[in-house]
Amino acid sequence: MSLRSEALDYIKNNYDFYQGILQDFIKIPSISTDPNRKPNMLEAANFIKEILNEFGIQDVQILETKGHPVVFAEKKSASKDALTVLIYGHYDVQPSDPIELWDTDPFTPTIRNDRLFGRGASDMKGQIIASLTAYHAINSIGPIPVNIKFIIEGEEEIGSPNLAEFLENNKELLKCDVILNPDAGMISPEYPTIVYGLRGLTYFELNINGPDHDLHSGMFGGIIHNPAIVLSELITKMHDENWKVTLPGFYDDVIPLSDEEREKLSRLPISDEDLKRQTGAPALFGEKGYSSIERLGARPTLEINGMLSGFTGEGSKTIIPSSAMAKISMRTVPNQDPDKIYQQLKNFIELNVPQTVKWDLKQFAGGWASISDISHPGVIALKKALETEWGIEPLFKREGGSIPVVAAMQRILGKDSVLTGFGLPEDKIHSPNESLHLPTWKKGILSLIHFFFNYAGME
Ligand code: BES
Ligand code: MN
Repeated sequence: MSLRSEALDYIKNNYDFYQGILQDFIKIPSISTDPNRKPNMLEAANFIKEILNEFGIQDVQILETKGHPVVFAEKKSASKDALTVLIYGHYDVQPSDPIELWDTDPFTPTIRNDRLFGRGASDMKGQIIASLTAYHAINSIGPIPVNIKFIIEGEEEIGSPNLAEFLENNKELLKCDVILNPDAGMISPEYPTIVYGLRGLTYFELNINGPDHDLHSGMFGGIIHNPAIVLSELITKMHDENWKVTLPGFYDDVIPLSDEEREKLSRLPISDEDLKRQTGAPALFGEKGYSSIERLGARPTLEINGMLSGFTGEGSKTIIPSSAMAKISMRTVPNQDPDKIYQQLKNFIELNVPQTVKWDLKQFAGGWASISDISHPGVIALKKALETEWGIEPLFKREGGSIPVVAAMQRILGKDSVLTGFGLPEDKIHSPNESLHLPTWKKGILSLIHFFFNYAGME
């Protein structure tokens, strides 16, 4: 029996054990954006450290950053000239609110209908445990065929604000031949997916301030410009009638899609009907002149993530609010510079905001978009691995979501990431009732075992 098939069997025989580890990991509320969860962030970093210890790596390092720490570990192959795979993950998760919309507690993992529910189950604690599991199964059978390094950060969901500095300071430690990043997802359970493009993200908070306190809307309505209306008008002006973003210069650096790529993207088996079903929205919409797939992966967008102003409680209250706030973000495509977008937004507001209010714009961490080379040997190895497990050729897709580390690693380490993952569009990541489809997860683990052997060039 080959090492490969022994490792595959090992997973089949010990599946419950690994799934239990995933459940324990989900129990830790590692919400990076919430200062009150700082102890849980350390708990999650330590949890990974202990699992890695248990999985045969003794010197696991928890490396400090200005924010949450990075977990780093390395397992050397027995053979001296083995290739090195660097596996990326993030142990942080998004906030769980609105908590009242969860059917079961977000940090009490629960299985219903083949799905494991809990915050981070899909994004991306499940993907981290899948990678650790695949490594551990191989290591339990015999010598691993490649060197493996793990870098598991704690700030991805807040835009990885300290990771670039970490990469700069640890280039030697992170030396590798390929980076495996399982933080992307699949199109559907039938179609394993390799993601070759990610959008970037820039994120802002805009505050509009009018009177220095909420005013009686009868006593002062008609002489004071309402900040909620000012903000709404500004936001409305940010798109034109074709749903193009109107910030001057916004599209200047966008590289047009080639005809070949458009043709390839058009063949992906994702229909507008699928997208409607996944979102529950009554209809789709978007920038004129592009298909849904193009608008999702290869065109930039501007969104409002949230707004706050005035009275939002039950019943009615008659005021002119003193201020209004919006969280505004743009998904960018390759070659768009976040600093330029900040300037464009600032200029737009300066030009369009009336003299009747004051305003203030804050920027949060984000990241550049990326495109990866799909002829990399790591991609070939993964493609074959996914095909072996699913019995069908993987699809190549541009993803609309962002993973800031990918472009940062290209720039700082000079290395492309091979992006995949075993999450599905139905997983409700970032939303109440996030879950992980366990049968797909299991296939994912098996395919990662194939990946390691394929990449090492072994049977
Ligand atoms: N795993 C996601 C990104 C993703 C989502 C990739 C779906 C593929 C399919 C990641 O954890 C994420 O949510 N990233 C944030 C990054 C941001 C905070 C800089 C995002 O895209 O909103
Ligand atoms: Mn996420």
